[in-house]
Amino acid sequence: MDPKEVVVLSPGRINLIGEHIDYNGGHVLPAATDLYIRFKFYKNKNNLSEVQSKTINKSLKLDLNNLERSDIKWENYIIGSLIYLIKRRNINPKNFSCIIDGDLPVGAGISSSSALICGFIKGIGILNKLDFTDEEILLISREVEYNFIGVKGGIMDQFSIIHSKENKLIFLNCKSKTFEHIDVDLGEYKILLLDTNIKHDLLESSYNDRVRECAKALEIVNNENGNFNFLTEINLENLIKFKEKMPEKIYNRALFVVEENERTLIAKEKLKNSDLRDFADLMYLSHFGLKNLYDVSCEELDFLVDQTVDNSKILGARMMGGGFGGCTINIIHSEEVESFIRNISKKYLDKFSKNLTPIITTLGKGLNYKIIR
Ligand code: GLA
Repeated sequence: MDPKEVVVLSPGRINLIGEHIDYNGGHVLPAATDLYIRFKFYKNKNNLSEVQSKTINKSLKLDLNNLERSDIKWENYIIGSLIYLIKRRNINPKNFSCIIDGDLPVGAGISSSSALICGFIKGIGILNKLDFTDEEILLISREVEYNFIGVKGGIMDQFSIIHSKENKLIFLNCKSKTFEHIDVDLGEYKILLLDTNIKHDLLESSYNDRVRECAKALEIVNNENGNFNFLTEINLENLIKFKEKMPEKIYNRALFVVEENERTLIAKEKLKNSDLRDFADLMYLSHFGLKNLYDVSCEELDFLVDQTVDNSKILGARMMGGGFGGCTINIIHSEEVESFIRNISKKYLDKFSKNLTPIITTLGKGLNYKIIR
């Protein structure tokens, strides 16, 4: 029987450590949030399909036989997904209506764009009784972001959205795409995200510059001695030999990548052994690398991290995601949450004349759905 309605929940992603590592073929430690985009799909008998987003209060009509790039950004996530689905899977989707809402904030650095694409592709698949594998959803959604939207990112976001399990982190090797679910016991501690409300748009930011700079560093190493596919294959000892042979900026990018990948490997062990303090120290080192070597932080993110350093109830903090805005991730004692949020929100408002949005999150479930027949 044809599904009457399909409801898909597509989560955002957090990342404990391993930033800007996915497109460098290393290790990351992300998870899904417990905040979701919710899609309700049903077939319609009209000539056009329609998508209505209650989250941003916009709607879109689509002729599935004549899909073209739009000038409006969010529309391209939908249009690109449909174009790549049709192209890759040669499918002929039936006209549909889709209503989007949910509680996942947009532009906060928790991957609302990948959540939108992955959830949309999943829903179209189920509605049309096409059994997309997780691997297909991963590949198609990545292609949409990489080729159609133009953000040259890695696979971390899509992977976490698809494969996460409640209360578990994903330890993902981005080169081999092998992964492990890791149990995390934070005890009395919570994960607090602080959204700067500096809306980051990776396409308009220097994100793709960083991807290019890493490729440049790799090229310099390979020209001299090697056949590496990714920067994370180079060890620190080897990289240091290139300090004088690379422009300083390029060397700094590579140094960050090699160190951050190392940190992630150590962090995984620390978390497995519930050494939260040691783990959290690595978060600070990650932040300082992202700020000083990789240059993807901003004044607001640095301010938020600085405010945690002398607070004994906060184990660690760092900027999270692509950077240039978005949010910080903090490991904070549950007793401290309320007063810290109160104080930091006031300080942030005083300094930047902007509101801070605090989000307490747990490790959520990956993409899931319900079919109503
Ligand atoms: C964005 C990208 C990811 C990843 C992170 C940084 O979220 O979409 O692929 O590169 O930035 O770790």
